[in-house]
Formats: sequence, C-alpha cells, structure tokens
Amino acid sequence: MSDSKPVPGGNEVLVEFDEGIAWVYINRPDKRNAMSVGLAHEMNAVLDALEMDDRARVIVLSGKGDAFSAGMDLKDFFRATDDVSDIERHRAYRANRAWQWRTLMHYAKPTIAMVNGWCFGGAFTPLICCDLAITDEAATFGLSEINWGIIPGGVVSKALSTLMGDREALYYVMTGEKFDGRRAKELGLVNESVPAAKLRERTRELALVLAEKNPTVLRQARMAYKYARYMDWETSAEYLTAKADQTTFVDSEKGREKGMTQFLDEKTFKPGLGNYKRD
Ligand code: ACO
Repeated sequence: MSDSKPVPGGNEVLVEFDEGIAWVYINRPDKRNAMSVGLAHEMNAVLDALEMDDRARVIVLSGKGDAFSAGMDLKDFFRATDDVSDIERHRAYRANRAWQWRTLMHYAKPTIAMVNGWCFGGAFTPLICCDLAITDEAATFGLSEINWGIIPGGVVSKALSTLMGDREALYYVMTGEKFDGRRAKELGLVNESVPAAKLRERTRELALVLAEKNPTVLRQARMAYKYARYMDWETSAEYLTAKADQTTFVDSEKGREKGMTQFLDEKTFKPGLGNYKRD
C-alpha cells in the first residue's frame, strides 16, 4: 500500500528499505556523521514518516562511511547556535532532543543501533535510546566532552546512567578515555559486538526476528519495560497488569487467544520454542 510513497530523507539522512527493515543512515560521512541542526530537523521528519510507513517494521540506525557519529557537530550545532536568538537556540536543542531521545525512546516500532565506527559524546544518546544495539568490535567509543571542556550534557549523562554502572560511567565521563566495541559490550552499552564483516548481517538477522513478532505486542512489551523500570514494585504490578489487559484489548491480531488455542487445544506449537502461527 505504501510502496509508492517517496523515500523520506535524502540529504543528511538516508533511508533504504529491505525486507521490512528501514536502514536509516546519518549521512555526513565527510564530517564523521557529526550531528548538525539540519540533521536534527531531517531526522525528526524521517522518523515521523517511518512510523506510518508499512515498508518499515524495524528501524536500524547507523552511519554512512566509517562513523556511527562523532557526536554533536561543534561547528554546525554548537557554534551555529552560539550567536543566534535564544528562541532559535531553543528550537535547535528541542529538535535535537526530540529525535535523539524522546522519539526513539517511545517509538512505535522496534529500533536497533548498528554502530559501525566512531561513536562520541552526543551519539551515546540515540545509541542508548534505541531498544537494542550491535557494534563492530573495532568501533571506537568515547565520552570526549571532558577533553574539550564541556560536560556530557544534552541528556548523555542521564542516558548513561540507565545502562552503565556508576563506577564505569564516571570513569569514562571523567577520563574521556576511548574504548572499543568489545568493551562497549562488557559495559552493557550494546547487546553484541561482532567483527566488522558480520555487522550488517547480524543486525539484519536480529531485525528479521523482530519483524516476525506481533507488532502490537512487541510495542506494548517495549513500552511496559521502559516505564516500569522507573516505578516501585507495587505501582509496577498494577501498571503491568493494566498494560497486559490493554495489550489484549488493542491487539487486533488477537495474539493471546491464538497462542493459547494453538498450544492448549490444537497442540500445534510450543510458546517456549518459537512464535505462534500468525495469519
Ligand atoms: N564536530 C564538527 N566537525 C567534526 C566533528 C564534530 N564532532 N567530528 C569530525 N568533524 C569534522 C572535522 O572537523 C573534519 O572536517 P574538515 O574536513 O572540514 O576539516 C572532518 O569531520 C573529518 O574529521 P577528522 O578529524 O579529519 O577525521 P579523523 O578520521 O582523523 O578523526 C575523529 C575522527 C577521531 C572522530 C575526530 O574527527 C574527532 O575527534 N571528532 C570529534 C569527536 C568528538 O569529540 N565529538 C564531540 C563529542 S561531545 C558532544 O557530542 C556533545
């Protein structure tokens, strides 16, 4: 139905569709995919469009060339907003926050960050706010802010604290020392660290696993996890019970009913071993 839709982006963001996966690339390879104000506006438009595009069941975020992203663009984001009106600055920061954090964290479709090279500073925010992440084991990560006289701002420090232990996060915040993809895996920043030659294929495999799931239940499960982690146990129990009921209510595919019937009555599948048969 949406195959005739134009492909979103085309400038600082490139999108390729394949097998239900939208491969979304930051496209400033000459600038190591440093993130500009223009990129923020374009990425917001792209993510907004992909949410309603049937060609995209899963989003993979990566970078063209040899970088995931060298962080915020010192020239085209920071310097560019130093001497503008405070309203213009506010709008640039809001646009940047929108895609890097709010949109990705609450996105309607599953997201995977594929870290293909340099990943510095502000790039940690979209990395962490994607649901899952896979990296090239030789990729280089760094909280380089301290090296040039700023703090890990935006929302980087907060994002780090959701995935990393305090000792490790503070070590890298305070030293600015870089680390590789293997270490990123040890730190819990990514799910997997693989050789460069396997990065795309492993990401594709994982994306296809997600693309096969009931999309409504997958969305509800991701959201439930993200909200429940900030609640106490009592509130979580109430929230998750209500969320589970809501999931059954909004799931037009009737996954729960199908799964139960196929397991208990028809004995055609085992939930522990794979997905129920979807129509
Ligand atoms: N902001 C602005 N321009 C950048 C950035 C950036 N974050 N990163 C790279 N570039 C530009 C360079 O200025 C250069 O531009 P030019 O060709 O017009 O001179 C071009 O991208 C290529 O960069 P090089 O430094 O030549 O590339 P190299 O491969 O040698 O090094 C590296 C790559 C290590 C990533 C280096 O560019 C670098 O240290 N970048 C900054 C990383 C950083 O600290 N980012 C900010 C984090 S803090 C934050 O995000 C809030």
